[in-house]
Amino acid sequence: CRIRHYSFDVVMKNTTRLCSSKPIVTVNGQFPGPTLYAREDDTVLVRVVNHVKYNVSIHWHGIRQLRTGWADGPAYITQCPIQPGQNYVYNFTITGQRGTLLWHAHILWLRVTVHGAIVILPKRGVPYPFPAPHKEVVVVLGEWWKSDTEAVINQAMKSGVAPNVSDAHTINGHPGTVANCSSQGGFTLPVQGGKTYMLRLINAALNEELFFKIAGHQLTVVEVDATYVKPFKTDTVLIAPGQTTNVLVNADQNTGKYLVAASPFMDAPVAVDNMTATATLHYSGTLSTTPTTTTTPPPQNATAVANKFANSLRSLNSKKYPANVPLTIDHSLFFTVGLGVNPCPTCKAGNGSRVVASINNVTFVMPKISLLQAHFFNIKGVFTTDFPGNPPQTFNYSGPGPANLGTMNGTKAYRLPYNATVQLVLQDTGIIAPENHPIHLHGFNFFVVGRGIGNYNSKTDPNNFNLNDPVERNTVGVPSGGWTAIRFQADNPGVWFLHCHLEVHTTWGLKMAFLVDNGKGPNESLLPPPKDLPKC
Ligand code: C2O
Repeated sequence: CRIRHYSFDVVMKNTTRLCSSKPIVTVNGQFPGPTLYAREDDTVLVRVVNHVKYNVSIHWHGIRQLRTGWADGPAYITQCPIQPGQNYVYNFTITGQRGTLLWHAHILWLRVTVHGAIVILPKRGVPYPFPAPHKEVVVVLGEWWKSDTEAVINQAMKSGVAPNVSDAHTINGHPGTVANCSSQGGFTLPVQGGKTYMLRLINAALNEELFFKIAGHQLTVVEVDATYVKPFKTDTVLIAPGQTTNVLVNADQNTGKYLVAASPFMDAPVAVDNMTATATLHYSGTLSTTPTTTTTPPPQNATAVANKFANSLRSLNSKKYPANVPLTIDHSLFFTVGLGVNPCPTCKAGNGSRVVASINNVTFVMPKISLLQAHFFNIKGVFTTDFPGNPPQTFNYSGPGPANLGTMNGTKAYRLPYNATVQLVLQDTGIIAPENHPIHLHGFNFFVVGRGIGNYNSKTDPNNFNLNDPVERNTVGVPSGGWTAIRFQADNPGVWFLHCHLEVHTTWGLKMAFLVDNGKGPNESLLPPPKDLPKC
């Protein structure tokens, strides 16, 4: 294993999309940002220098950060932000992970343009558990906003109503042919007939789960969130913000051009950018005048397609890559996730109320210094450890809106002893309306042992849990009006964020933190903070 050094300069860059230009926040002037390459067991040092007017922090989404919570990145959770003109070196070792992940800004809405791929290759000499592809290609899905996203969300928070939506989706930074700015074209994936390609798909969009499809080609899913799965064929991949999916594409058509499409799933009664982003798979030797074979993406709210995809995911669970699902549970938790309404006398547009989001009726309030610092240095008054393990009232979560819309504000964590095993059922409440929530847990992978529509039934549903080969991941969709059950072992000391990866829901408060106590052994406790840890 080796040490890999990266320099991330956060700089403004004038960028043109949809026929108009605006300055955007980038890493090294690139959109999407640079790909970070490493091998399993490597140590990575990324020096982030902030040259912009915003506070910045970078999260290495899905990296376990064993004992190195200081390098995790969410602002005010594990670090104070890097202020303008300041810098910070993220220093972490990649232990027992290989595959595709992503890095992204974890403050404000900067993630919209400050993101990129993390490619972790297996240890030298260790093959993939599937035939080696001829080539690997990173495909980052995202959004493009004509307006300034910081202004959009600031305005929405003042008025109390939902923010605007993006103007286009993107594939490797480009909307493609849909944009009515055809001179800008889109991303091209060059292939040779008869060869197999691995696409490392990443959804870096702020607010939308996406379907991904290639005309005339089947996709073989081999990995999600940097864990191997039992390979299966599909024509459509569903991928939520924060999720990654590796697929093999066999270039078995030998000639021609084929449309690649990324379109919104939605499954929620909120407004979304409904544009389909396009790219082109292009067989070498095929003339540019050849017409492109098109494809129809699934329609919005194609729940059956989404469910089929989610239900097809299984851990590889081989000898070499076993699924170590916790079979006994120390902490059995039930979290309701959803939107709500709070009084807001100053909100004019919201008619005296504003949209909030909560977990177990707690709307998370960001602290002024990071929870991890408060925990490590024993600073009182920053957060409390009384986050409820169950909702305050039982009601019909997925039925018509119940009466208890109210949420309480708080900066609350749930305390877990080191190595405790946890079962967490996430139930969408549908208080305003049922909605999909891709929930991300920092610091851990978890196993998705169950999933269903309607209300979770604690008596009967566990009988159907998959404890043998459930998919292992770091971000999972809680279906609209339904539930998802996950299990993990709290083997990583520190403070770990759990939140909806739809940025608008995070902003509204759909977030909480787990505080995992130090273990007793020398390899179990949180390391001390690095000297250059930013100050608030
Ligand atoms: Cu990718 Cu806390 O997020």
